[in-house]
Amino acid sequence: MSGAALRFFDACAGIGCFHHGMVKAGFTCVGAAELDGRLQQEYPKAFGLDPSRMFGNLHEVTEAEAWRAVRDEMHGCVLTAGFPCQPFSKSGTQLGPEHAEGTVFGALVCILEDLECPAFILENVENLTGEKHAETFNDMRTILRGMSYDIAFGKYSPDQIGIPQHRQRWFIIGIKRGDELEGSENEALLEAMDAAIQEKASEPKVILKDLLEGTSRRGSPASDTEKQALVIWDKYLSWLVENPSIGKTPSPLWGMEAVYAYDIDKIQSILTSRKGKKIRKKDVISALGSRHKKSFRRKATIIDNLPPYLWDLVDERKEAYPDWKPRYIKNSRAHLMKIKGWLESEDRRQEWKDWVVLLRSQDATFQKFEWHVRESPKQTRIKDDIKRVKKRFEGRLIQFRPSGVRVSKGDRHPALVAIGQVPVVGTCLRRPPWQILAKLQSIPEGFANNNPALFGESSTSGNSGEPVKRLGNAVNVDLVAVVAGVVKHEILPLGK
Ligand SMILES: C[S@@+](CC[C@H](N)C(=O)[O-])C[C@H]1O[C@@H](n2cnc3c(N)ncnc32)[C@H](O)[C@@H]1O
Repeated sequence: MSGAALRFFDACAGIGCFHHGMVKAGFTCVGAAELDGRLQQEYPKAFGLDPSRMFGNLHEVTEAEAWRAVRDEMHGCVLTAGFPCQPFSKSGTQLGPEHAEGTVFGALVCILEDLECPAFILENVENLTGEKHAETFNDMRTILRGMSYDIAFGKYSPDQIGIPQHRQRWFIIGIKRGDELEGSENEALLEAMDAAIQEKASEPKVILKDLLEGTSRRGSPASDTEKQALVIWDKYLSWLVENPSIGKTPSPLWGMEAVYAYDIDKIQSILTSRKGKKIRKKDVISALGSRHKKSFRRKATIIDNLPPYLWDLVDERKEAYPDWKPRYIKNSRAHLMKIKGWLESEDRRQEWKDWVVLLRSQDATFQKFEWHVRESPKQTRIKDDIKRVKKRFEGRLIQFRPSGVRVSKGDRHPALVAIGQVPVVGTCLRRPPWQILAKLQSIPEGFANNNPALFGESSTSGNSGEPVKRLGNAVNVDLVAVVAGVVKHEILPLGK
């Protein structure tokens, strides 16, 4: 088969990371589809695709006149898509493409049929096999096998092939075995994908520190409130360094436990005894021990007396909390009380009080802390707050997440996600510019800089939120190239 016959259709095209990966593996793009109007405009310009091959909504695509005009030239190509995962509207045992109507997967099935694709590569989030999507995923597999594809699905992350981003994603490949035959879940295909990933694992690693080098010059600074939160957690870490007998930071550490005086076991027993009836303030007060009763502000609401993670206590028909919540609360409180007791024993009660006041003045999410670093914090005696914080968190990545301030080791970047949450680099307290993040998706050098509009960055806007969102939705180029290499190997002997 000639190289030119290795063709692909980029459905759910986004910023085109499948495109880069497929080209790297030797394929040529014959067409693409993307719902987003701005991406539809920019993708053909960035990739030199004839605009007549750029389509919009996948649900309507095969009916369009423009499609029929070029259909024959696209016929027999490989389909690629990192598609949104919606549950099927109908369930049951009678599965077929018609049952997938309304879902993007359903539209992909129509394209597979219309173009008689010899193979496909689909990509999806880790949760595809989780409880929420499991049934949908099973249905998808049944449909694809029924269309005579042998399928295999493997979960891979860029850090397996030397790229310092941890991002587990499912890659589902399918190879058509002949129209008459029912496809199977093919172990050999999966082994081939695993082996191809394994082979790349031996390549020299890209070091995250080097990738992030430009951050100190071009990155956007952490906000003042974020810096303030780091100063507070730096103070906490300094106590751990000073007194190692305090022990390690529990994960997570809920800082609010430094002030609230409720008894979680009693709250659990109220929830159990009320058997789903509404909890009243007097129920809560009556179930608290005398020490807790004293600190309970009667004029305030229940919520005012409890940390945000217990505010759902007042919901109708609230059941007892799952075991992890009382565990987090108890671990956090015991740890913080140990620090308090030690400081009091050293006549440093005021130091503790000042810290608690500062902590309580923070946004609720900043009051929680996650130390995802194996080693103990570093010692530093620098006087200046910001310089000290930079030294303490040197080489670490710090994310400000709804679950708290998370400090991670700094050897791998957490998965880029559409909702942002780009970590601050501890060494310079800045966030990497999106062009650096593009490297974590293995987007070819220079492509991001040459095509800012594809990433949603107009040269005048200076807004980096949109590129981060688009990068967070994208697939890693090098992983696509590895998986595409397997597909290429499978379809070449068939002369498709
Ligand atoms: C998870 S992202 C995939 C991104 C892509 N793999 C990349 O490298 O940027 C899913 C993409 O599918 C597009 N999409 C969603 N529904 C669609 C539809 N009905 N037709 C065409 N594209 C669609 C979204 O706009 C989004 O860009």
